[in-house]
Amino acid sequence: MSQRKILITSALPYANGPIHLGHLLEYIQTDIWARFQKARGHECYYVCADDAHGTPIMLKAQQQGITPEQMIAQTRIEHEADFAGFAIGFDNYYTTHSEENREFASLIYKRLDDAGYIKRKTISQLYDPQKNMFLPDRFVKGDCPKCGALDQNGDSCDVCGATYSPTDVKNPRSVVSGATPVLKDSEHYFFDLPAFSQMLQDWTRSGALQEEMANKLQEWFIDGLQMWDISRDAPYFGFEIPGAPGKFFYVWLDAPIGYLASFKNYCDKHNIDFDSFWQQDSSAEVYHFIGKDIIYFHSLFWPAMLHGAGFRKPNAVYAHGFVTVNGAKMSKSRGTFIKARAYLDNLNPEYLRYYFASKLTSGITDLDLNLDDFTQKVNADLVGKVVNIASRCAGFISKRYDGKLAASVAEPALLQEFVAAGDSIADSFEKREFARAVRDIMALADKANQYIDTKAPWVLVKDDARQQEAHDVCSMGLNLFRVLMQYLKPVLPVMAGEVEAFLNTELSWQNYHQPLLNHAINPFKALMTRVDPLKVAAMVEASTENLQATPQHQPQLPAVAVTEREPISETISIDDFAKIDLRVAKIVSASAVEGADKLVQLQLDIGNGETRQVFAGIKAAYAPEDLIGRSTVMVANLAPRKMRFGLSEGMVLAAGPGGGDVFILSPDDGALPGMRVK
Ligand code: 2FM
Ligand code: ZN
Repeated sequence: MSQRKILITSALPYANGPIHLGHLLEYIQTDIWARFQKARGHECYYVCADDAHGTPIMLKAQQQGITPEQMIAQTRIEHEADFAGFAIGFDNYYTTHSEENREFASLIYKRLDDAGYIKRKTISQLYDPQKNMFLPDRFVKGDCPKCGALDQNGDSCDVCGATYSPTDVKNPRSVVSGATPVLKDSEHYFFDLPAFSQMLQDWTRSGALQEEMANKLQEWFIDGLQMWDISRDAPYFGFEIPGAPGKFFYVWLDAPIGYLASFKNYCDKHNIDFDSFWQQDSSAEVYHFIGKDIIYFHSLFWPAMLHGAGFRKPNAVYAHGFVTVNGAKMSKSRGTFIKARAYLDNLNPEYLRYYFASKLTSGITDLDLNLDDFTQKVNADLVGKVVNIASRCAGFISKRYDGKLAASVAEPALLQEFVAAGDSIADSFEKREFARAVRDIMALADKANQYIDTKAPWVLVKDDARQQEAHDVCSMGLNLFRVLMQYLKPVLPVMAGEVEAFLNTELSWQNYHQPLLNHAINPFKALMTRVDPLKVAAMVEASTENLQATPQHQPQLPAVAVTEREPISETISIDDFAKIDLRVAKIVSASAVEGADKLVQLQLDIGNGETRQVFAGIKAAYAPEDLIGRSTVMVANLAPRKMRFGLSEGMVLAAGPGGGDVFILSPDDGALPGMRVK
């Protein structure tokens, strides 16, 4: 096996929020792959960084009354601690707000500009006249230009599903200040992505992408690639574009360049030849692991930028799916939006590494963390199968055989079967088919346990005449265990380290086929305890944001808080108000709406045996099942509206800033369905 030079990255997390289980799938997947490559003896580096630039970070720091530099420094400390907690073994963890990144961003930009790939064009955008800043789409809210639904995002409507430009929104307001935005012209810099169309089509078909992703890209090619706006006007937290005062690189321009910068920072400290990895004709391999949502950036902009600036392109971009918990999107109200820290405060990180590995494939399907299945699987596989092998054999070796393994292998064919499986297990790891690798390893663990069951060393040891046999069986069991732990080492690096101490050997692909004979081991200590369901419950409890506890509760707005109340719109007369028929309605059933992330379909009892169907955009705040039995106030005489998903016969009223923080009446308010509210 010839030694390969491999550089691996995971996507850079934004420096304005905590790491959560959704992130961790990617870091665990990448880390397992990186550890596997290193274990195979390759020259392999795994680098990452915080993604530190952009408007949300600038505004969040402002809100907190600190500088962006202070905020990103603090977040970086937290991110690094969380990653260390999950044994993510980065060779380097850096930040995009670094000198190396500024230099690479400037260099790449200059090379692209010199080659004619940067175009300048004046565009008109919404501008907050109070904050004196241009507003990214997500910082504009208003009424849907299509269906009129109030308070929709600047680029899409959650009610009718329409997408539009923020300039089309009715009654627009700035999420930052509440002010009404105005249109303002500014010169922007564009990267000529269409110029790379042919190169990108060839590259995406070269095996660099998973098939599903390559197919998705075909749609974009058919639609035609667009020029990419890479500049943002001051105020902006990022790098100023050389020769363009007041213009900054858009965060997504310098984010992937952060891969280069982090690696360069590492190379400089460790005397590694950076260029041999990144020059045009490099024979080193470069792989990016990402979520499927950011494939556009990594499979179009990024390779085009690299190509245009004279760097090599990645060998592959590997996308994964999203994490769901208990079958649904992670939710703060259900306690399933679990932060890395909340997990680490309660549970062993290797449970999660194992569970994710046991479900990860090379594809992009979403991965469900079902907490009951998680508990059951970890207990059954790791504690019940793997650790069980060692715990059933180790004690006898220490107590009866002087802590030494036997001089010969009791069942050479069985051991050989375990060793021979290494090739296909390695192949599964290499292909990112971790679930298959884990399945094969567990099948071997079953065999090892069957062997021990059949031989029953606990019976043999009681018979003086069968001491040698007992010694051989226990030694055999531990040799099998050792091979299994060698295979599991990329998944369970911490436990593998403890096993190395216990077995007094390094678990390695270089020596695993030579059994440990006449070999002194150390006393066995419990390697892993069972998942405690109470701890799982405590983690969920700690992650549950009590949406009813309003006054103390600080709402977490999507990106920044609305710092000023929305101005009261035009007044209506008392006669207008009298026309609105507000009724207490009881929610008799509630269900998610397929294809609409934020909608819940409600059946409402409005008294007198009458029911109404209403679609409400409150899924971020309530799990459908939590709504059943509650009362709410509804506008009963709103004209029915045909929506994409069915007829909506009214509107339910709720209070709160939006997103996950929306409140309807409690279940025990004593209000009767149909009661008039005014
Ligand atoms: O989507 C995100 O979370 C981005 N911060 C990922 C950046 S990956 C790379 F391009 F830097
Ligand atoms: Zn709409």
